[in-house]
Amino acid sequence: MRAVVLRTLGDPEVLRVEEVPDPRPDAGEAIVRLRAAALNHRDVWIRTGRYAGITLPIILGSDGAGEVVEIGPGVDAAWRGREVVIDPTLNWGGDERVQGPAFQILGLPRDGTYAELVKVPADALHDRPRSLSWEEAAAVPLASVTAYRAIATRAQVQPGETVVVTGIGGGVATCALLIGRRLGATVYVTSGSEAKLESARRHGAAGGVNHHDPDWPKAFIDRIGGRPDVVIDGAGGETFDKALDLVKPGGRVVSYGATLGPVQNLEVRRIFWKQLNVLGSTMGNRRDFAAMLQLYADGLRPVVDTVLPLESASQAHRRMEEGKQFGKIVLTI
Ligand SMILES: NC(=O)c1ccc[n+]([C@@H]2O[C@H](COP(=O)([O-])OP(=O)(O)OC[C@H]3O[C@@H](n4cnc5c(N)ncnc54)[C@H](OP(=O)(O)O)[C@@H]3O)[C@@H](O)[C@H]2O)c1
Repeated sequence: MRAVVLRTLGDPEVLRVEEVPDPRPDAGEAIVRLRAAALNHRDVWIRTGRYAGITLPIILGSDGAGEVVEIGPGVDAAWRGREVVIDPTLNWGGDERVQGPAFQILGLPRDGTYAELVKVPADALHDRPRSLSWEEAAAVPLASVTAYRAIATRAQVQPGETVVVTGIGGGVATCALLIGRRLGATVYVTSGSEAKLESARRHGAAGGVNHHDPDWPKAFIDRIGGRPDVVIDGAGGETFDKALDLVKPGGRVVSYGATLGPVQNLEVRRIFWKQLNVLGSTMGNRRDFAAMLQLYADGLRPVVDTVLPLESASQAHRRMEEGKQFGKIVLTI
C-alpha cells in the first residue's frame, strides 16, 4: 500500500508517500481501506519531536473513514464491506472517568491513517453517518470526541448557559462551537484572527474577542456585559490563566490542551476565591464517541478547512503549523 511514513523528525517535507507492506489483521482486528484522513495538532507535535513516546518509523494520523475490507479471527463477519469511521481512542480501560495505563491513540505507537489501509481493533469501528461525505466523516473523530467530552461529559453544559471557546480556528475548538450550540448554549469565541472571528459568527458564534488583546477578558466583559458560565480551553499558557479570570464565580474551566505551553505565575487565589471547577479532559471513552457520533447522524456537519491529496501531507502540516486553518484539514486517499 501507499502511506506517508515518518522516518525522521523535522520540517513538513519529511512527510513523503512511499510503498510499504499491507497490514494483516490479527484476532479481533479489521483492515479499513481509507477514503480520507484528517490532521490533528498531535501529528505536528510528533513530527517535530515534541510528544512523549515517539517511535520511528511511524505512519501518523488518528482520524480516518473508509470501508472494512478484511477482518481477523473473532470479528463479526457483518463488518466486512461496511462504511465506517474509526474511533482513535484505543484501550480506554474499565473506568469511564479516566483512561487507564494501556490507553493509546491511533497514529502512535500504532500506525495511523495517512495510508491506503489501516489496521484497527474491531471495537473502534462505527458506521459512517450517511449524511456525511468521506471528507466530513474523516474530519470528525479525534477533535469531535475531545470537544464532546470537554463540553458535554466534563462541563455538562446546559441549555441557556454561556460558553467561551478559546482559539476558535483549531480543530477541537470548531467542534466545541458546534456541539455547544447543539446543546443549547450561547457560544462566544476568541481568536488571534479577525477573519476567523467572522467565520465563527457564520458558524453560529454569538460573538468573540481577539486574544492578542492583552486584556481580552475585560474586552469580552465590556462587550458582552457579563461573564461566561464555562470556558473551554486548549491553548493553555497565559490564555488558560485569563480563562480563570474571565469565568463567572462558581463557573467551570475545561482544559484539553496546552498549545502555548505551561502557565507562568498561575493566580491560584482566583480558583479558590471564585469557587471554580477546573476540569481536565482528554479524548473520550466509547460512550462519549457514540454520543458524539449520534449528533452528526442527527444532522451536525463538521467544519472542513481544506481538502488535499495524501501526497500533499507536508503542505497540510505546514498550514496547521502556521495556524492558518479554520476547522479540520483533510487528506483524501
Ligand atoms: N487532550 C486531548 O485529548 C486533546 C485532543 C486534541 C487536541 N489536544 C490539544 O489541543 C490543542 C489544539 O489541538 P487542535 O488539533 O485543535 O489544534 P489546531 O487545529 O492546530 O488549533 C490550534 C489553535 O490554537 C489557537 N491559539 C493559538 N494561540 C492562541 C492563544 N494565544 N490563545 C488561544 N488560542 C490560541 C489558534 O486559534 P486561532 O487560529 O483562532 O487564533 C489555533 O487555531 C493542541 O495543543 C492539542 O495537542 C488535546
